[in-house]
Amino acid sequence: MSALPDELTIGELGIRSGVATSALRFYEALGLIGSRRTSGNQRRYPRAVLRQVAVIRAAQVLGLSLSEIQEALAALPNSRTPNKQDWTRLSQTWRAQLDARIQALERLRVDLTGCIGCGCLSLDSCALFNRNDEAASQGVDGSRLIVHSK
Ligand code: FES
Repeated sequence: MSALPDELTIGELGIRSGVATSALRFYEALGLIGSRRTSGNQRRYPRAVLRQVAVIRAAQVLGLSLSEIQEALAALPNSRTPNKQDWTRLSQTWRAQLDARIQALERLRVDLTGCIGCGCLSLDSCALFNRNDEAASQGVDGSRLIVHSK
């Protein structure tokens, strides 16, 4: 691939990041990334956006929601592009969250194992329905399982 220009079109950003342009527009609508507009109203992204997109994708692979990613990036000074120290801090936090979700999933697996061959699906006694929202508090609600993309 050729040298990185100072600014990228949305198509170039899509190719270099491997993220669909529709997703990039969505990230931008959420304020996760930013661009300037040319006189012809076309987006131009500073090259640092590539790193921002990489961090967003990494966080998504780890199962974070876009609102969680938004919150984490907004907490950086001046909403800067995460530098190496920022990444270390973010990845340590996300590692702890991932560990907590793994533990919740392991407990859920134990509960499910108890259900195999049962089939009562009792709202009163089945462990799956009587978890005191433990899994939900860890973000394990079916929509937050680890996502492997690409
Ligand atoms: S299905 Fe019977 S205990 Fe869960």
